[in-house]
Amino acid sequence: MSDQSNAGNDQASSESADGRANSRKSLSRRQWIGIAGGGVAVIASIVAFRRFGHGAAVDVTAVTLYAEKDCACCHKWAAHLEANGFAVTTVTVADVGLKKDTLRIPADLRSCHTAEVAGYIIEGHVPAGDIKRFLAERSAERGLAVPGMPGGSPGMESDPKVPYEVLAFDASGTTRVFARQSV
Ligand code: CU
Ligand code: CU
Repeated sequence: MSDQSNAGNDQASSESADGRANSRKSLSRRQWIGIAGGGVAVIASIVAFRRFGHGAAVDVTAVTLYAEKDCACCHKWAAHLEANGFAVTTVTVADVGLKKDTLRIPADLRSCHTAEVAGYIIEGHVPAGDIKRFLAERSAERGLAVPGMPGGSPGMESDPKVPYEVLAFDASGTTRVFARQSV
């Protein structure tokens, strides 16, 4: 445990470290090492979690994917996300359309699978890079969608490539073009 990382801990875990600073002199070396170890865990979680507007700490890498069991392209899309730093938990559903109804996904935006990350909806074969850029915006919109299953999108690489748009959509179903993916 270097002095440098301890200094980082003090900054990163300010809620708890402030109180410790006063009593640090009285801590034994062993106690201090234990506390510093906890600080490393705090730093690790700060890397993966960011504070959103509503104040809750949200894991921006944890994706929940709703897909039907035999959906090969859905699982390929999950692999694309995993390869780009997301941790995907797949929930197998008998009828993904029912999930889309529950989540009120507009009919014209629907694709084969639906996912959630940091409270946002990700509908269809949305590229990981666009998801990251969207999360960084902390938009008030509901999420992103790639309607249908355009060839060449992540998970659909085996089909001929076509240009497609990644749409951001809000609660009223209004969309804006978030990204244009060309062939
Ligand atoms: Cu698909
Ligand atoms: Cu899918």
